[in-house]
Amino acid sequence: MTATGGGAPSGGQESVVESRSELVEFFDTTLRDGEQSPGATLHPSDKLEIAHQLARLGVDVIEAGFPASSPGDFEAVRQIAREVEGPAVTGLARARRGDIDSVFEAVREAQKPLIHVFIGVSDVHIVKKLGLDRATVLARTAEAVAYARELCPVVQFSPEDAGRADLEYLCSVVDVAVRAGASVINLPDTTGYCLPAEMAELVATVRREVPGMDRVLVSVHCHDDLGLATANSLAGIAAGARRVEGCINGIGERAGNAAIEEVVMALRVRRPTLRLRDNLRATELGPTSRLVSSRTGMVVPPNKPVVGTNAFAHASGVHQHGVLRERSTYEIMSAEDVGAGESQIVLTARSGRHALVHRLDRIGIRIPDEQMQALWQKFLEVADSSKEVEDEALLQIVGELTVHQPPLGSVST
Ligand code: KIV
Ligand code: ZN
Repeated sequence: MTATGGGAPSGGQESVVESRSELVEFFDTTLRDGEQSPGATLHPSDKLEIAHQLARLGVDVIEAGFPASSPGDFEAVRQIAREVEGPAVTGLARARRGDIDSVFEAVREAQKPLIHVFIGVSDVHIVKKLGLDRATVLARTAEAVAYARELCPVVQFSPEDAGRADLEYLCSVVDVAVRAGASVINLPDTTGYCLPAEMAELVATVRREVPGMDRVLVSVHCHDDLGLATANSLAGIAAGARRVEGCINGIGERAGNAAIEEVVMALRVRRPTLRLRDNLRATELGPTSRLVSSRTGMVVPPNKPVVGTNAFAHASGVHQHGVLRERSTYEIMSAEDVGAGESQIVLTARSGRHALVHRLDRIGIRIPDEQMQALWQKFLEVADSSKEVEDEALLQIVGELTVHQPPLGSVST
């Protein structure tokens, strides 16, 4: 089955309104939160190359870095803002003027500049990390967002650790940020603590309780400490968030962020149920994943959804038989649609004869029926002692049988 992509909305006032509420925007933070993965620090030229690829992928926003963190990152963000066309470009700022000035200087030449301001709002962040109290955090939020708005028309505010904050207090911080001019409120589950139902409740409560939220874009930013980042992002979207933050390959602080490729393919594969659309070019997911992996040095696990090398590989006889007859028996999306090449029939000791014949066929070898049993036995012997039987080993098995039993069939390449 081919995943359904988002179709272009038809004209007319009604469809414009409907399409706006259907659209889920993607905010990519591979170059900021992703780069915070231990060992993943990127050279500015690598950041620029990845940013161009993110633009090809069609993300709506690129968070290019944390300009106040180092002169090198400031320059990297500025170069991306100057050169990369299409997505909005932003950088992260703590709720202080110096950081906000750095972000603005770095992104002001972007086609669509955006300032992203954050401050911790859970009690543990307020007291233990910032050494402040709730009232001071409220005041700093108002001041920082208002200052950012003086510089830039689009300001996103993130109440850090919203997932563990007191909900009533969270709503008052968001209220202050909206009144000060934030047009995007991003709700982060900073520590990956929330369960999906809690993430949904968080989004729903903020949207319901804070005045003026109908004019504000709600975003979610979920970490993967409990392996729930994608589920939590989808729960937030189901509760009305229309922007989702994440990283390619799910990289990021500690266990990482929501993986963009997972969230978008969940939206697409389940479009009949979710009825949402997005602006991504999904065929660029594979190339983007491979680029991010090679530049950050962070290997993609083979079983990683969508972009792992095993994501479209079938190894057991039962599955191979099914897929060879009809792909949708074991595939809910196609490898071609996500830029992952094509699905693979992998030969292992768990494979079946259908897969062996299929592979022989693909490499141009026909085996007479009466010699198939001998070949199968030899194949199993080799497969039992190796993880995977590659074409080279298969050719060798065929060659050996040819030597011992002359009229084995033609071998062509
Ligand atoms: O995880 C987090 O809270 C963040 C914010 C700065 C958005 O990365
Ligand atoms: Zn984060």
